[in-house]
Amino acid sequence: MFDIKNLLNRKTTRNFLPNKIEAEIIENALRVAWKTPTSLNSKPVIICDISNHAKDAWIEKQQAVKTASHVFLFAVNEEVAEANAKKILAPRFGCDTNDEKVSVTFEKIVPNRREWATQQIYLVASYFAATLEASGISGCFIAGFDKAAAEAALKLPKGYKVGLVFACGYADKANPGWQETEFARSFEEFYYP
Ligand SMILES: Cc1cc2nc3c(=O)[nH]c(=O)nc-3n(C[C@H](O)[C@H](O)[C@H](O)COP(=O)(O)O)c2cc1C
Repeated sequence: MFDIKNLLNRKTTRNFLPNKIEAEIIENALRVAWKTPTSLNSKPVIICDISNHAKDAWIEKQQAVKTASHVFLFAVNEEVAEANAKKILAPRFGCDTNDEKVSVTFEKIVPNRREWATQQIYLVASYFAATLEASGISGCFIAGFDKAAAEAALKLPKGYKVGLVFACGYADKANPGWQETEFARSFEEFYYP
């Protein structure tokens, strides 16, 4: 059931039950993620279901993929991002997307394409994972893998680079694989009113 309490009590979960996630839950999370705001409406991110790659050497040692019912990957294309962003900028100047005014403005807003593209990934991933978590699905973000090995193993559409993985499913509540967060800051330290 969709419930904010699932998010308020969220913990990174690494062990899952064999139960599959209902298609409607995944569809809703995908549609929320699709609507995620992106800088200059660049919409450069794709989500891939890579569940059938859980035994690939580049990811198999991550505890969460061993029992996850679904493994998703977020990938980004810097060229798509730039092209879409320029389509937004051009009408503001009343000119063509190739016009210097567009390029100069784009370079000022986006001094580092890779960093900018990665920001879009993390926001899309947050919306997606938060929707799943609120729907009662637990999960684990995974950035600890060899990106080049992942790109070699996955047949992503041309120009897309891997960013982040989210392994998820129904939590094995008897043994969720939570880690201690004793070094984490308290809410009082986190929020400065
Ligand atoms: C960007 C990112 C990358 C992460 N990579 C991994 C990872 O490779 N393997 C893993 O087990 N957990 C990974 N985590 C989960 C963190 O270890 C976890 O969020 C942190 O320990 C705090 O625990 P909590 O989410 O239960 O509060 C990652 C989390 C984030 C946000």
